[in-house]
Amino acid sequence: MRHTLLTVVLMLTVMPASAQFAIPRDAKLEAKVEKTLQKMTLDEKIGQMLELNLDIMGGYDANRVWQLNETMLDTLISKWKVGSILNAPGTRAATVAQWQEWIRLIQKKSMKYIGIPDIYGLDHNHGVTYTQGGTLFPQPINMAASFNTELVRTGAEITAYESRAGNCPWVYNPVVDLGRDPRWPRIWESYGEDAVVNAKMVVAQIKGYQGDDPNHIDRFHVGTSTKHYFAYGAPWTGKDRTPAYLSPQLLREKYFEPFKQAALAGTLTMMVNSGSVNGVPLHASYEYLTKWLKEDLGWDGMLVTDWADINSLYSREHVAKDKKDAIRIAINAGIDMSMDPYSVDFCILLKELVQEGKVSMTRIDDAVRRILRAKYRLGLFDEPNTGGKGYEKFGSDEFAQKSLQAAEESMVLLKNDGILPLSPNAQQSSPKILLTGPNANQMRCLLGGWSYTWQGSNAEDLAEKYNTIYEALCNKYGKDNIVLEQGVTYRERGRYYEENKPQIEQAVAAAAQVDVIVACIGENSYTESPGNLSDLWLSENQRNLVKALAKTGKPIILVLNEGRPRLIADIEPLAKAVVDILLPGNYGGDALANLLSGDANFSAKMPYTYPKEINSLNTYDYKVSEVVGTMAGAYDYDARVSLQWPFGYGLSYTTYEYSNLKVDKASFTADDVLTVTVDVKNTGSRGGKEAVLLYSSDLVASIVPDNRRLRDFTKIALEPGETKTVTFRLPAKDLAFVGADGRWTLEEGDFLLRVGRLTAPTKCRETKIWDSPNI
Ligand code: BGC
Repeated sequence: MRHTLLTVVLMLTVMPASAQFAIPRDAKLEAKVEKTLQKMTLDEKIGQMLELNLDIMGGYDANRVWQLNETMLDTLISKWKVGSILNAPGTRAATVAQWQEWIRLIQKKSMKYIGIPDIYGLDHNHGVTYTQGGTLFPQPINMAASFNTELVRTGAEITAYESRAGNCPWVYNPVVDLGRDPRWPRIWESYGEDAVVNAKMVVAQIKGYQGDDPNHIDRFHVGTSTKHYFAYGAPWTGKDRTPAYLSPQLLREKYFEPFKQAALAGTLTMMVNSGSVNGVPLHASYEYLTKWLKEDLGWDGMLVTDWADINSLYSREHVAKDKKDAIRIAINAGIDMSMDPYSVDFCILLKELVQEGKVSMTRIDDAVRRILRAKYRLGLFDEPNTGGKGYEKFGSDEFAQKSLQAAEESMVLLKNDGILPLSPNAQQSSPKILLTGPNANQMRCLLGGWSYTWQGSNAEDLAEKYNTIYEALCNKYGKDNIVLEQGVTYRERGRYYEENKPQIEQAVAAAAQVDVIVACIGENSYTESPGNLSDLWLSENQRNLVKALAKTGKPIILVLNEGRPRLIADIEPLAKAVVDILLPGNYGGDALANLLSGDANFSAKMPYTYPKEINSLNTYDYKVSEVVGTMAGAYDYDARVSLQWPFGYGLSYTTYEYSNLKVDKASFTADDVLTVTVDVKNTGSRGGKEAVLLYSSDLVASIVPDNRRLRDFTKIALEPGETKTVTFRLPAKDLAFVGADGRWTLEEGDFLLRVGRLTAPTKCRETKIWDSPNI
C-alpha cells in the first residue's frame, strides 16, 4: 500500500523532456517505437510485459528429446500476446540447430499474431552456457583476476556471435553484484569485490556483447541484461536471496557504481535483485528502480524481474498481500517486464489493475516503449532470426585459443618457494607427480555453475572432449609420470558439498612412488540457493587428505579450484606452492599444465580478499578503524585485519620493479584531472604480463575513510629487462565520497596515491559538495 496516488503522479515525470539520456537517442528508431505503440491494444501491451519459460511450451517425446508443442505456442502467443520467452528446456544445453528451429518458430508466431518479434533470453553467462559445442570461457571471477579488459571484451564478442548463431538475441549477463562476502554462493559470477574492477569490466563486456552502437545492434551482437540490480551480493546471512543491510555510502559509492556505468554504456536491459536492501525489496523500490536508474541517469532501457520475483513480493518478502497487490507494487515501482515463468495470471491481473486505475496507462506505455525500444535496437523487427550462414566460426579453434588464453591469464600464483615451474624436461628427468584431490579429474568443477546446465551438474558428457587436470598433466608430462589417486571424491548425485567415503590411505600409499604431490582441492559446482553453505572452511576430508600427505615429506603443490575462498589456514603452511585456479572453464586443465610446467607465465591477481579466519571477513577497502593498535595503558584495543592473501596479490615467474611514481599536481580542485605516472620494469629473466593497480587513500575525512580504494588499473606486457611507463588519468572527482548527508563530497586535505609499494602525496585545495546524485 506504499505506492498509490503519489506513485501515479510521479510516473508522469518518469522521463522529463529535459532529461539527458544515458545514451543518445535515435530519432527514427523512437518514431518507430511510437508508431508501433499507438497501434497496440491494452492486451497486446500487457502481453509484451510478460516473459514465460520455454519449458511450459513443450515436453519430452518417447526418446526423451524435448519437443516444442506448436499448439501450445499458438495459444500463448495468439491469446496472451507474450513478448518474451526464456531458458533452455530442463535447463540443459541444446544444439545450435534446435535453438534455430525453436526460436524461428517462436518468431514466426510472434510476427503472425502480434506483429512484434519475441525477445528470447538465455543465461549465456561465461560463454554459451545453453548451446552445445559452443565456447565456454572462465567464469567472470577469473576474468576479473586477469585484470585484462580487452580479453573480457573479446570473450563477450564471441559469446554474442555464438548466441546469434542459434537465433538468440539477448543474454542475462553481465553480472556485477560485487563479491564482497565470501559466503555468498554467487560471488564467482561477477568480478570480485571491487567496484572499479566491476565497473570497467562491465563496460568492456557491454561493448563486446552489443558492439559500439547500442541503438543499432547488428546480427553478430546481442542485447545485455546487466544484473542483478542492485546490492544482491551482500546478504546478511550469507545465504542467497536473503536481506542485505547496507549503508548509504556503500550503496551509492560501491554497489551502484557498476550499474551506473552499465547504464551509461547503453546496456539494453537490467535484471533486478531478488532480495531486499534495508528492508526494501528491490522489486518494490520506486526509489531505486525509477528514481536512481531511469530518472537520475536518464536510462531508457528495460527492467526485467528475476525468476518469479513479483510473486516473491507476497510469498517471500511479505510486502504484498497477494499476487495482484504484488504486480501493482512492482509495476508502479518501475518493473517493465515480469519473468513469471509458469503462468499467464500476470496478464489478467495487470489488466484489472489498469481498469481499476491502480496502474496508470502512462506507466504501461512507458514499460512497453522500453520493451519495443530494446527490440528495435536489436534489429528484431527487420531480422527476427539471424542463425544460419555467417556463423562458421561457432565453436572454432580460434575461439578456443581465446578461452585458453583467458584461463592462463586468470590463474593466481599465491605461493611459490621455488618448486614451480615443474619443468617437464626430457622424459627421463620429468618429475613423477601424484595427482590427488576431488577436483583432479572432473570437468564439472573446472567449469562451475551455469555450464551446460544450471548447476553445472550432470553435464560431463557435454564436456567430454576437453581435458581435466589429470588429462592435461598426462599430455604435458607423459602418462607414466602421473599417478592419479584422488583420496577424496565428490558424490556426483548428491548436493554439491557431499563427498564419498574418503580413501586417504590409498593416496598416502601412492605418494611413496612420486617426487611431488599436486593436490587439487576446492568445491564442486553450484549456483544460487543450492550453493548455500554453513561453514566457510574447506571440507574436513580434503584438509585431512593434505595433512596426511604432508606427513610423507613429499613436497605439496595446492591447486585451489573453487567458486569462493574456502578457508585453508591450517593446510596452507604445509604447501610449497599454491595456485588458485578459481573456475577456469573448459581449458582450465590445459592452462594449468602450461603454467605449472612453465610453458606459460602467471599474470593474474586476486579479485577478492582471501580470508584466513572465519570471523575476519574483511575486504581490501576496509575502514581504517577496522585496524586498531594497542594503546598505552591497561586496555588492549587490538583489532587486526587478518587475511590469507590480499586483494590484488599474485606472483609470477618473473619479478617487476616499480619506480618513479609521480602525480602531476601537488594540489588540485574538483575540476582537475590528475595525471599519474609510474615506471614498471621486468627485472626477472622471463617475459610476462603485469596488472598495474592505482589506489588512493583519503587521509582525513568527515566520515571514517576507507583504508584505500582502487581507482584504475591496466595490464602491460614486458620482456626481461624492459621498462614501460604507465600513465593513469584520474579525474579529481573520482576521489569524492558520499558524506553523512548522502551527498557526494570532496574535502580539502591530503591524499596519497599508491602503486605497488610506492606512494605519492597530493592535496585537495577546496571542499566541494555536489547536489546531483551522480557526478
Ligand atoms: C537467476 C538469474 C537468471 C534467471 C533466469 C534466476 O534464478 O537468479 O541470474 O538470469 O534465473 O534463468
